[in-house]
Amino acid sequence: MRTMLYPGSFDPVTLGHMDVIARASRAFERVIIGVLYNEKKPVGAFTVDQRLRMLREVTAMYPNVEAAAFSGLLVGAVRMCGADGVLRGIRTTADVEDELQMARLNLMMAGVETVFFAASPEVSHISASRVREIARLGGEIRGLVPDAIIGQILGVMGAASKA
Ligand code: PNS
Repeated sequence: MRTMLYPGSFDPVTLGHMDVIARASRAFERVIIGVLYNEKKPVGAFTVDQRLRMLREVTAMYPNVEAAAFSGLLVGAVRMCGADGVLRGIRTTADVEDELQMARLNLMMAGVETVFFAASPEVSHISASRVREIARLGGEIRGLVPDAIIGQILGVMGAASKA
């Protein structure tokens, strides 16, 4: 497997995602970060453009990593970008059930294989939903997201908390 699609909501990108991206950039020839729609998270805090802008900014140092948005099924995105498979990160056992279900469905529907990276222990407690909650309530998000995008996150979440 040379080219992997790393899909997610990335609402916003966290240091947990960055852990997977850094390791994937070493393990694979090409990594395409795919911003996709998750039916369980219908309303995002950040627009797809904002998510892509943040992703591109914080992955600029990896020449073999790119980011793009896709609509529809993940298996369609895999086909469209010519990836050899899907990459997902697993943080805790709570992730496993849903991830196995998605991986099996994608395999059954389109023969698409999923590779899992175990989250590094120092970031396995981080989730984008907690980052949004902490930012909205005025907490400290340094250490949870890349420093370079803290201002952008607070700009959007601060405005949301005052709305
Ligand atoms: O970061 P997330 O929210 O956990 O990512 C979930 C995502 C976007 C990868 C998943 O919801 C997805 O694959 N969405 C595309 C639609 C799709 O293919 N649904 C069927 C999955 S079996």
